[in-house]
Amino acid sequence: MFETISAAPPDAILGLSEAFRNDPNPDKINLSIGVYQAADGKTPVLDVVHEAEQRLALVNKEKTYLPISGSPTYAACVQKLLFGEDHDVMATHRAMTAQTLGGTGAIRVTADFLKANLPGVTVWLSQPTWPNHPSIFTAAGVPTKSYSYFNASSGELDFEGLLQSIGAIPAGDAILLHGCCHNPTGVDPSPDQWQAVVDRIRDRNLVPIIDLAYQGFADGIVPDVAAIRLLAGCGVDLIICSSFSKNFGLYCERVGALTMVTANQSVAETVASQVKQCIRANYSNPPAHGGAIVTTVLSDPELRLRWEKEVALMRDRIHKTRMLLAEKLQKLHVPGNYAFLARQRGMFSLTSLTPSQVDMLRNQYSIYIVRSGRINVAGINAQNMDRLCAAIQAVTGP
Ligand code: LMR
Repeated sequence: MFETISAAPPDAILGLSEAFRNDPNPDKINLSIGVYQAADGKTPVLDVVHEAEQRLALVNKEKTYLPISGSPTYAACVQKLLFGEDHDVMATHRAMTAQTLGGTGAIRVTADFLKANLPGVTVWLSQPTWPNHPSIFTAAGVPTKSYSYFNASSGELDFEGLLQSIGAIPAGDAILLHGCCHNPTGVDPSPDQWQAVVDRIRDRNLVPIIDLAYQGFADGIVPDVAAIRLLAGCGVDLIICSSFSKNFGLYCERVGALTMVTANQSVAETVASQVKQCIRANYSNPPAHGGAIVTTVLSDPELRLRWEKEVALMRDRIHKTRMLLAEKLQKLHVPGNYAFLARQRGMFSLTSLTPSQVDMLRNQYSIYIVRSGRINVAGINAQNMDRLCAAIQAVTGP
């Protein structure tokens, strides 16, 4: 039976990591997958994660199953991180949170939930977006469409296009927005622009889904959820898919959360029961370790403070690297406008490198970039910066 099946193409992002691993060139550079690298090119385990693991090793006495929605203590920590203690969402208990397998798991459970409970819904995705977004919704049988987001020639937000697009989305549909550090463009709305987006979403009566994979990488842990707090207070139902892969460096632990903010506690309980059905039919219940690390750090004031400092170090390194990269490319007179690199935030920027230039970088220089032209700025360091810029100059030159 299986002989008739044809091979699937490699994943646009994870497939490149496999190719990178197999490349024998000692000077190879990986700017593809969104994994933070420190100045030495290594992906660190955060100090607070080390410490939490040591504490957990002393107290962990059993490995029995977690509940379907994961640990309730973890859920409480996630909600506090998203909304703060004073938001009315906390006092009214009108949100539910389930622990999920990373942010991707949260998005997949969202898709299953929408398919089962809002069968006519279409999910609108930014153009461009993370390539796995359409794949996840399609796999769950949920249709997707695109809204305008990015002005490729200026490297800025297409704000007018965004508002117009949202205004044309049919009431009752869902719109997926990136909470901060838009993947792949690195371009986020300003606070004023967010306010206009939130107003438009409320006026159109849409269901916003926020993909929050980089909390802390744009401006800080609290500023990066400002838009979420606005949405949670504006009277719409809201879905948030959090990931702790990047801001805790817990990539392989697959730790994330799905939070739904509803009209009142009773609706939240009903929604939670449906989310549990989706999880039970998918992976039954989540793994415990990553969630326990996050809970340990977030519930201890001293660890929490140290965590914020470690996130700030990662954020600052990326920001400085962006400035240096923009400066170097400009000095080398590389064709194109690279000033926008310095203004964008988070790990990613969408360069104007064409697929054939990306292929040349890979084949001739062992530099790995997603074919859309997306680079992971966190993969650049003092050792590879000059080689990278010279290669970009070579492939973009006459
Ligand atoms: C990325 O966009 O590189 C990350 O979110 C990792 C992934 O799973 O694609």
